[in-house]
Amino acid sequence: MLRENFGTDGRGNEAVVFTITNANGTQLKVTTLGAAIVSFIFRDKDGIMRDIVLGYDKAETYLLQKGYYFGATVGRYANRISNARIAINGVEYALEANSETNNLHSGSNGVSHKVWDVDRVDEEKNSVTMKIASGDLEQGFPGNMQIEVTFTLTEDDAVQIDYKAVSDKDTVANFTNHSYFNLAGHDGGYVGSQKLKIYADAFTPLAPALSIPTGEIRPVEGTPFDFTDFKEIGKEINDNCDQLVYAKGYDHNFVLHNGGKLGLMAEAVCEDTGIHLYAYTDRPGVQLYTGNFIEDHEGKNGAHYGERHGFCLEAQWFPDAVNNPAFEAPFLAAGEVYTSVTVYRLERV
Ligand code: GLA
Repeated sequence: MLRENFGTDGRGNEAVVFTITNANGTQLKVTTLGAAIVSFIFRDKDGIMRDIVLGYDKAETYLLQKGYYFGATVGRYANRISNARIAINGVEYALEANSETNNLHSGSNGVSHKVWDVDRVDEEKNSVTMKIASGDLEQGFPGNMQIEVTFTLTEDDAVQIDYKAVSDKDTVANFTNHSYFNLAGHDGGYVGSQKLKIYADAFTPLAPALSIPTGEIRPVEGTPFDFTDFKEIGKEINDNCDQLVYAKGYDHNFVLHNGGKLGLMAEAVCEDTGIHLYAYTDRPGVQLYTGNFIEDHEGKNGAHYGERHGFCLEAQWFPDAVNNPAFEAPFLAAGEVYTSVTVYRLERV
């Protein structure tokens, strides 16, 4: 496994990047800045090696483009928390309102933007474990929390992401990975012609403003949110449907039925490259975000990135679950160990 310098976080902390390669030549790069996936390279149907996630060449660019969370581990609480407030055991905690009146992805300086420590490297298993200590009331969340993320590149061309966290006070925990996939290659442009299937027959619609779910669980049937069979991502993305207008495309949580066990959440395929993604989680929801807010800018190796050039499948608890009595909320008791698994596996068709 190759370990190289990846730049700094501007506060004197050096980030490193690991390159992990399996026997098939599939290659994964992960950095300690934000415990992020930097690249995921797979041979396409014509033998061309394609990097299928968006990213940057060095830590400094990630920090400059903070708002996109390319490939990052997001926490301690992914997605939105309404009014940037949570209540635990009757005590209110104020969080940073970094997305209008909401807290988004734990604020502007969450673990997604910090340099993690390298805990262990397992050459045999092709895995790297990173850890970070998040202090009591850091970003407003109660409890000193020890967080660990392990990235494993398997021999069946999957990246497996294992999360573990424990806090010394009752708190909340909801970690996700924010990779943007483009199965034509990270420089492949608009993902509209790639096909997607989501293992969900319902989604959680948003209120007209601020992107907070209303609490309704709405069947996808007969709506542009129906991905129960493979459908081009772009097929209905511009439909004049209020939910799509609110979010400028898809930026919605889908309701999964895995019963808390690792199961398929989605599949996606690009016919031009023959690359097929299988995504698995043990969480109850997945946020489909179609990169609606990516502005034109330069990514890895001079690639051009822009609006809808990638899609995210963010495994998670439902957005704002901590404030919405209709949703099950991810409270974590003091001393209880939070664990979760996400897998993104590639095949050629
Ligand atoms: C999530 C949010 C989006 C956006 C992205 C990151 O998917 O729902 O609105 O903030 O993260 O840019």
